[in-house]
Amino acid sequence: MKSFVKRMRVGLVYNLKEEDEPPQSDLYAEYDSEETISAMENALLKNHDVVRIEADENMFEKLKSAELDIVFNVAEGRNGPARESQVPCVLDMLNIPYTGSDPITLAICLDKARAKEILHFYNIPTPRFEIFYNSKQKLNSLEFPVIVKPLREGSSKGIRNNSVVHSKEELEKVVYNCITVYNQPALVEEYLTGREFTCALLGNGKVRVLPIVEMVFDNLPKDAKPIYSFEAKWVWDTPDHPVEIFECPADIPASLEKKIRTICIKAYRVLNIRDWCRIDLRLDKEEIPNILELNPIPGILPKPEENSCFPKAARASGIDYDELINRVLKIASKRCGLI
Ligand SMILES: Nc1ncnc2c1ncn2[C@@H]1O[C@H](COP(=O)(O)OP(=O)(O)OP(=O)(O)O)[C@@H](O)[C@H]1O
Ligand SMILES: [Mg+2]
Repeated sequence: MKSFVKRMRVGLVYNLKEEDEPPQSDLYAEYDSEETISAMENALLKNHDVVRIEADENMFEKLKSAELDIVFNVAEGRNGPARESQVPCVLDMLNIPYTGSDPITLAICLDKARAKEILHFYNIPTPRFEIFYNSKQKLNSLEFPVIVKPLREGSSKGIRNNSVVHSKEELEKVVYNCITVYNQPALVEEYLTGREFTCALLGNGKVRVLPIVEMVFDNLPKDAKPIYSFEAKWVWDTPDHPVEIFECPADIPASLEKKIRTICIKAYRVLNIRDWCRIDLRLDKEEIPNILELNPIPGILPKPEENSCFPKAARASGIDYDELINRVLKIASKRCGLI
């Protein structure tokens, strides 16, 4: 039976990637390309009217006058430590419903340490960490090797092959670079070398975990660290020369799968995540899944060869790209009482 879809006026709110960005630069790595925005728009157009709105300084007036029923929000925001919250804050102010989490959850998940503090409070495993505000700081409770990453970035910005460090000298250099380039503190974490997974979750109340994706690092170039670095994500893996990194569904024992699913759902709940999220995890020495970070506005590149993990997990359960976008909208519409 065909389910009834109420035709709505949907605002698609996004930040557009600069087309002329040099290929090795990560300045706009989190923003969406014209191709991704068009793919989302076309998916929504199957069932709805769509108004595209770029999340720039003219957004407020456009949102105010567009007479939208709901916004499909994929905007990463512009500046500052809570940039992902900017669009949802404005939408809350204008009383326009939207897909995804609220401003508090988005800001907390963007700040990896704040998210980890909450996970720790609820006994959800996450690698131990220290925050470095300057490069002269010394490790306090952690031992080498550690991994250094910007406190508030995504899309592997600032996570390069040399981010795994083994000595005081390396640490000082990498932390200095991280703080000066990204203009924010550095998160220094215990480096876990176990298997890595990412999980796509959908829903509210009864949350669904899509087939688990495993990152297998065996096919990275020789001498590459077994991490999903900026190079692994954007430089070495191209549609012409794909690096085979992903296994979906992950080939894992049922007991491990259950543990991963349980941990992800618990994290989703304690962080008050809504509608959808992608959660990255890695096993520690005891084979316990640890949460690395949560992405409440997950990347959704449309082409399968671009290896975007949320659409990949959806495809593995028979949900194609267009259906995924429409499902997220439907889940949000239900939550907001629109259908
Ligand atoms: N504590 C850790 N131990 C081992 N590897 C890690 C750790 N933290 C990060 N990594 C590696 O670095 C990669 C990127 O880290 P992380 O997921 O924190 O960055 P991100 O930029 O937020 O990613 P995303 O693209 O998912 O937004 C991970 O996928 C993992 O391979
Ligand atoms: Mg990640």
